[in-house]
Amino acid sequence: MQRLYIHPIPVRIWHWTNAVGFVLMILSGMQIRYVGLIDVVSFRAAVTVHNFVGFVLIANFFVWFFFYIFSDRIRAYHSELNPRKHFIGSFRQIYYYAFGIFKGEPNPFQVSIYRKFNPLQSMIYQIIMMLLVPVQFYTGILMWDVKRFSAQVNFFGGVRVIDTVHVLIFIALVFYLLVHVYLGTLGHTRTAHFKAMMTGYEDMEEEPAAEPKPSSGTHST
Ligand code: HEM
Repeated sequence: MQRLYIHPIPVRIWHWTNAVGFVLMILSGMQIRYVGLIDVVSFRAAVTVHNFVGFVLIANFFVWFFFYIFSDRIRAYHSELNPRKHFIGSFRQIYYYAFGIFKGEPNPFQVSIYRKFNPLQSMIYQIIMMLLVPVQFYTGILMWDVKRFSAQVNFFGGVRVIDTVHVLIFIALVFYLLVHVYLGTLGHTRTAHFKAMMTGYEDMEEEPAAEPKPSSGTHST
């Protein structure tokens, strides 16, 4: 059994603050949207929580962003630029999650320090962190003070358009969260990935995969 230090402390602080914050945003957001149908707390309290936690999450996002920008760990997010290799790797991973795992086949991906995400994970995390989450923050800020940001709100077609985008991303993130937590249970034990996100260390059953050369920066599969 070998231990790999795959989640440095800024990533762990960002991640768990983010996870708790997102759950609060989902709950307070549902209270705001379905007021009258759900009445766990008052509308005003839900808005206060939603606004406060929203700004905490925006500040927290920059912990993740600046950590990776200024660290060689960014290599974990380097994309496989060869589309053929990327799609073969992603399809292998989808096959594993859909069938292989139930047949007791080994995971086609081996974690290493600079290559901790399989091609599918790397792509999905980048879509979430560099597209959906920033757009969610942006639409949230516009709706936080519609008057102040009226020029931008009108530019995008009005509050209803902004609100629709915000709700659609909310639905996508809720779906993502369910799948994300399920996939989190698929380590070599049910809790291995959760423990790794808490302690920083992933226990490896087998020898870790060889590191790719720093200059290559690819995710070969
Ligand atoms: C209850 C909520 C959550 C739990 C239990 C959870 C669990 C985990 C675990 C176990 C990992 C490590 C997975 C691995 O390395 O394969 C992870 C990584 C990650 N999670 Fe979550 N997560 C939660 C919420 C979220 C949310 C709300 C987001 C974003 C909106 C998120 C984004 C990420 C990202 C981007 C990573 C990779 C982090 C990095 O190393 O850069 N997670 N999560």
